[in-house]
Amino acid sequence: MKKFTALLLALAAFTGGNLHAQKFPGLALTPPMGWNSWNKFQGDINEKLIRETADAMATNGMKDAGYVYVNIDDCWHGQRDAQGFIHPDKKRFPSGIKRLADYVHSKGLRLGIYSDCGAETCAGRPGSRGHEYQDALTYAKWGVDYLKYDWCNAEDLSAQGAYATMRDAIHAAGRPMVFSMCEWGQNKPWLWARDTSHLWRTTTDIYPCFDCTIDHTNWQQWGVLRIIDAQKPLRTYAGPGHWNDPDMLEVGNGMSENEDRAHFSMWRMLAAPLISGNDQRHMKPETLRILTNKEVLAVDQDALGIEGFVYSTNGTVETWFKPLAGGDWAMCVLNRGTTSVQFSFNWKNENVGDSFSQRDAGFATTIYTVRNLWTGNDMGGTKEILSAEISGHDVLMLRLKK
Ligand code: GLA
Repeated sequence: MKKFTALLLALAAFTGGNLHAQKFPGLALTPPMGWNSWNKFQGDINEKLIRETADAMATNGMKDAGYVYVNIDDCWHGQRDAQGFIHPDKKRFPSGIKRLADYVHSKGLRLGIYSDCGAETCAGRPGSRGHEYQDALTYAKWGVDYLKYDWCNAEDLSAQGAYATMRDAIHAAGRPMVFSMCEWGQNKPWLWARDTSHLWRTTTDIYPCFDCTIDHTNWQQWGVLRIIDAQKPLRTYAGPGHWNDPDMLEVGNGMSENEDRAHFSMWRMLAAPLISGNDQRHMKPETLRILTNKEVLAVDQDALGIEGFVYSTNGTVETWFKPLAGGDWAMCVLNRGTTSVQFSFNWKNENVGDSFSQRDAGFATTIYTVRNLWTGNDMGGTKEILSAEISGHDVLMLRLKK
């Protein structure tokens, strides 16, 4: 018995105290950036689209801005063979996923794939239930770098168990992969998934509208404002390596330019994953400008990894702050209404602080310079009263520099 205890202790020391497998560490110290096929193309995907997307991202400025994951969502699957190994849809992916991964890698990008905890995916393709270790091994052999793992047809499973099984399977397969949980917040993953995955969805699916709810018979899709509201109680659960995921971006998928800008800005204030969801091959210049604004991206990718919070609400206007590394702050004034508003902010009278990150802006004593991140203009400093007009469904986004 003594010998056994000694062996256990030695093993615990060797594994750093963790006897179970780990998610791969260090893969998402800032929120992951890339593209995913679902929001724009749903099931209408094939290898040509994925190659062309990689070509576009490698040359249109997206890769340079940091978007590196090219993620295939649902509907790439064909059948399992007699040994239970999964194969891609022969018509849509005739060259196979390994060849596709090699191609994406040759562009300096990484490949992501999709599966589901249940026996079938949401679109009715083969899910991973009972094949988790086989699937993880297959993805690793193909050279996959990122797995989004969904929650359809999983009613009789324990979410904690099912996602831990796939995490362990990825670990056993030995290839580092970002593990993206997609169980829509149903089992409050923010309470338990920190050691399971690198990111977890917090809500049902997004829809490209600013302020709407789409009712399907047994599920809903939510617009931008409704998703933002659902994030408000969750900020303390996220941080480097473990992110709340308010779903993929709808920038370029039909909202107005103001709305796209506001959606994008608020996802940055939430330190959300940056998974674009539009057609990378045919982008309007304003869409590309929004997606690749370096100073706005820097708010999301900030090393501190702290989500923003609502400081004040006044009519349709919410004022958000996000503490940044090195003493700076991001500020985003969101106009939820449809008509423009005049906004003013007298810094020295405002007490902006965050008990979670233990940061105090100290506007009464510290003067910051104020930079408008969308116009790229300096707007003076926090000595002067800030005054700006904000259009309906738009934002004023600032960086306050020490
Ligand atoms: C779910 C997910 C979506 C997408 C689809 C695919 O609805 O939440 O993001 O992956 O399944 O069928």
